[in-house]
Amino acid sequence: MHNTRKINGDVFWVGANDKRLSLFESAFPIPNGISYNAYLVLDEKTILLDCVDKSASDVFFENISFLLQNRKLDYVVISHVEPDHCATLGELILRFPELKVIGNVKTFSMIKQFFDYDIDKRAIVVKDGDEFVTGKHRFVFYTAAMVHWPEVMVSYDAADKYLYSADAFGTFGTLNGNTFADEVDFDRDFLDEGRRYYTNIVGKYGIQVQALLQKAASLELSAILPLHGPIWRKNINNFISKYQKWSTYTPEEEGVLIAYSSVYGNTENAANILATKLAEGGIRKIAMYDVSVTHPSFVLAQAFRFSHIVFASTTYNSKIFISMETLLQDIAAHNLQNRTVAFIENGSWAAFAGELMKEILSPLNNMTFLENIVSLKSSVKQNNVTEIEELAKAIISSFPKPDTVIAHEAKVEPNAFFKLTYGLFVLTAAQTDAAGRDNGCIINTVMQITDTPKQIVIAVNKANYTHDLIINSKKFNISVLTTESSFDTFKRFGFQSGRDADKFAGFEDSCKKSDNGLYYITSGANAFFSGEVISATDYGTHTLFAAQVSEAQVLSNAVSLTYQYYFDNIKPKPAPVKPASGKNVYVCKICGYIQEWDGELPDDYICPLCKHPKSDMELQV
Ligand code: FEO
Repeated sequence: MHNTRKINGDVFWVGANDKRLSLFESAFPIPNGISYNAYLVLDEKTILLDCVDKSASDVFFENISFLLQNRKLDYVVISHVEPDHCATLGELILRFPELKVIGNVKTFSMIKQFFDYDIDKRAIVVKDGDEFVTGKHRFVFYTAAMVHWPEVMVSYDAADKYLYSADAFGTFGTLNGNTFADEVDFDRDFLDEGRRYYTNIVGKYGIQVQALLQKAASLELSAILPLHGPIWRKNINNFISKYQKWSTYTPEEEGVLIAYSSVYGNTENAANILATKLAEGGIRKIAMYDVSVTHPSFVLAQAFRFSHIVFASTTYNSKIFISMETLLQDIAAHNLQNRTVAFIENGSWAAFAGELMKEILSPLNNMTFLENIVSLKSSVKQNNVTEIEELAKAIISSFPKPDTVIAHEAKVEPNAFFKLTYGLFVLTAAQTDAAGRDNGCIINTVMQITDTPKQIVIAVNKANYTHDLIINSKKFNISVLTTESSFDTFKRFGFQSGRDADKFAGFEDSCKKSDNGLYYITSGANAFFSGEVISATDYGTHTLFAAQVSEAQVLSNAVSLTYQYYFDNIKPKPAPVKPASGKNVYVCKICGYIQEWDGELPDDYICPLCKHPKSDMELQV
């Protein structure tokens, strides 16, 4: 019997769940099972986005038949040829002989590698950025090589603003009726398996995932529909920000993973003593795994989660104990970076494991190895307890100070930086005196300059009152304006001077204050940044401020505004102007200010409203 879920008026989930499979890809235990998602869009032409695994074929085909109601299936998009999705394509073609298959060049060469049916005669080959219209829906295809295989592509439906994301944003675990992430307690029930899915399946390909995230950041998203796990239609940025961390190998949490192998319990004893010393030293996030008991996929996921890792291993046949070696090779194969690492070794004849473990991890980027290797001879003795205490102290002292953690982990949302374009922004600052009056202006230059630490530069015209406020206070906020901004925002912040007007009067419902006490814009803005000035460089008419970002948040998924969009869609066209008194009439392209002038404007002319130069003044003829 069919089992579908409506996503909106003409889009349906037609996938299936599998709780019987014990090892996904014959490699990863899935105690909570897995879902194979596929989506059917009943437009003027019918289009299916992906198929399912063979094990789920019965209900999948019943779902499609039930929804089509004797219509034919016109198209299927193949985002990913891996058989957990594509194994049922052959039967789909048999059931719908006129079906056309949409994919890229690599899609079809890979289908031919796996299957023997004639795919060429029904192939519609698309490239990155190509569009395909089925009626109301307009699909744009973006290649996403190595997320998870080379042929992977994602599809963006511009009508619904849905991103059909292939394996990206997937999780292990079945959908137990609740198909949407907002219908479950995702952090409680799915996050661990989402992390394990990501790290084991695509963890190696952080750069490629970053490329996909950048493409996604340029799209207005109302939902993300992956091929495994829940659909995201609310708080989408919560999961995107996890992907941002995982794909940049940034620890999710400051904490310690202790992974140990132990033949007779003595290495485990040392690991437990270390955990106790860490807890006594104030460390609250400690995870421990016996790697002979726990499958490496779980421990790998925790290695992506925590900032610090301690490996404790027996020396075995003059090498590393086999289950520990498997874990270390797995971590190295997944390209983990940016961790602080320590070792405990044990050996009844000779203890070699510490250096051997370090050798496996040494090629990875930006790994800090603590020098204190604890070396046991068979069991923990008093001198070892002292070594373990020293190791615990070294680990604790390598943790960032709490205020640094707050500033750079909790308050700076990496995804906010994807909103930056060469666009238009509201720059806000305040007086440093008791009155503390707030002001703001429009600027067009904000750029990220470094990722670690997060730093930006802004260019501000010296004629703006906000410029002087920043010189004095050395702090500011930037709000990134979107295509949903109203012209009133530009009039308020760009067409009057803060020296003689309170720009925030009557604007209380469209702004909030960030932790630095300054306003940021909530209406028509998709992100804000708080900057603490590091340097100010004079460039004649403008000052270039470099700043450390102390806070950054994504506010919405609206598209960042460009100058072009502003001119075409937001700024009213200037009314026709008739020359008066024989003078030339100039209209400012930026703010619309009308300037009558005897002869040509001087080269140092500055628009009195928006402070733009002569080059932005258009002579009316
Ligand atoms: Fe869900 Fe890479 O297959």
